[in-house]
Amino acid sequence: MKVYIKTYGCQMNERDSENLAAQLKLRGHEIARTEAEADVFVANTCSVREAAEQKAIGKLLRISHKKKNGFPIIGVMGCMSQNRGSEIVKSVPKIDFIAGSRKTPYVADYIEEIAKRRKAGIIPQDPQKGERKKWKHNDAIINIEDDETSHNLIKLHDFSKSQICANISIMQGCAMKCSYCIVPKTRGIERSRPMEDIVNEAEILANSGAKEIQLLGQVVNAYGRGEMPNVQGKSPFVRLLEKINKINGIERIRFVSPHPSFFKEDLIAAYSSLEKICEYAHLPLQSGSDRVLREMRRPYSAEKFIKIAKALKASKEIFSLSTDIIVGYPNETEEDFLKTCEVFKECGFDMAYIFKYSPRMGTVSAELEDNVSEDEKERRNQILLEMLKKQSLDFNERLVNTSQEVLVESKAKRGLGNLMGRTRTHRKVIFKAPEELIGKLVSVKIISAGVSAMDGVLE
Ligand code: SAH
Ligand code: SF4
Ligand code: F3S
Repeated sequence: MKVYIKTYGCQMNERDSENLAAQLKLRGHEIARTEAEADVFVANTCSVREAAEQKAIGKLLRISHKKKNGFPIIGVMGCMSQNRGSEIVKSVPKIDFIAGSRKTPYVADYIEEIAKRRKAGIIPQDPQKGERKKWKHNDAIINIEDDETSHNLIKLHDFSKSQICANISIMQGCAMKCSYCIVPKTRGIERSRPMEDIVNEAEILANSGAKEIQLLGQVVNAYGRGEMPNVQGKSPFVRLLEKINKINGIERIRFVSPHPSFFKEDLIAAYSSLEKICEYAHLPLQSGSDRVLREMRRPYSAEKFIKIAKALKASKEIFSLSTDIIVGYPNETEEDFLKTCEVFKECGFDMAYIFKYSPRMGTVSAELEDNVSEDEKERRNQILLEMLKKQSLDFNERLVNTSQEVLVESKAKRGLGNLMGRTRTHRKVIFKAPEELIGKLVSVKIISAGVSAMDGVLE
């Protein structure tokens, strides 16, 4: 089978899709480069905002209109499957399988099973041919059950793609209770993988040329919480970082997304003691107003957040901080928003994802009136985006005339013969150099800075 995988949502979804692609290849299938050539279309979906779900539904419908004699097989996996389950059949009647977020490792089985049926001539009737009023979907495979071990199976990598910067999912689920967030429902119970499995995966990646490891989890720094002990004041997450730091060949370590509440002394200290941890942290603020943070059930204050941000910045000469912000949470006043702007400035984020609040059915805040108008959400969004532009440019300008260690990732999209790499602070650098340097660490002198990238010359 030729399978096209369309991924929506976060890096954990990207990672799940990669695992599926690798598994399909091991079983002799191919990954289609275009939708048009695919026998199977899989959407790996996101539910975090309403728009993300709508986008996936629209896509699935467009693909299903092209269905002929049961092909392409159409399936949906990930968060929307978990969130909506069999209800998806109502929106996309010709769907062949719906796999919940704990069923990723079994999607290849579902594809093979449906393919077997279709090839044997078991093809539901197409309503457009008028033979039936409804697509007879009772052979669709729908499984959104929990699975206690499936998180341990997300460990295959697609080595036909660059693994210079490789991702490892170290846990699944989320046990936090942020009032606005659907993720605890869509990703289920928080479960961590055994430390030795993760280290083993990192070693395999290092042996095949990976230079950077990024650890993934919805609350990545809560890794092992309740399942593994603290040892000499060090959390399981910090102990895992120590082990990865020892792996030969790995030069850089990153992780997303840590939660401010679990950003304790031991983790801040690790930035100084473990040389491979990059001078970069993604630290989701959500709001700078203590009142809104309380409403959101984020158990920290703006002051506590700023303290962590400052401790991180003080630990290195230069440190990059990125964040997530939600604007227009129910009852967010101008005063609340201005507090967010203040903290945004004080922390000097040089990268940020700013979201307009979107009520999600089943969450606590969905019970509240979504009473900040769309126009006002947009206005607040634009103000923060303008601030971000300036802060991002300021950050990059500070690097002009300095020498930076750059990990060369790929050819650049712009400029003939240019390569693209990133600094330890995760800033993009474009420079001219031979392609053989892809995958290597090089020294680059920064010569000019823009908002989203810098230009440099190889030293
Ligand atoms: N686990 C991560 C992020 C998960 S979702 C964390 O806690 O940081 C990514 C981001 O989407 C969140 O940080 C939040 O800023 C945003 N988000 C989540 N639910 C949202 C909603 N209902 N409306 C708008 N943005 C939302
Ligand atoms: Fe959602 Fe909060 Fe969990 Fe992040 S920590 S995934 S925002 S519930
Ligand atoms: Fe979206 Fe699920 Fe990730 S809701 S953000 S794909 S965990």
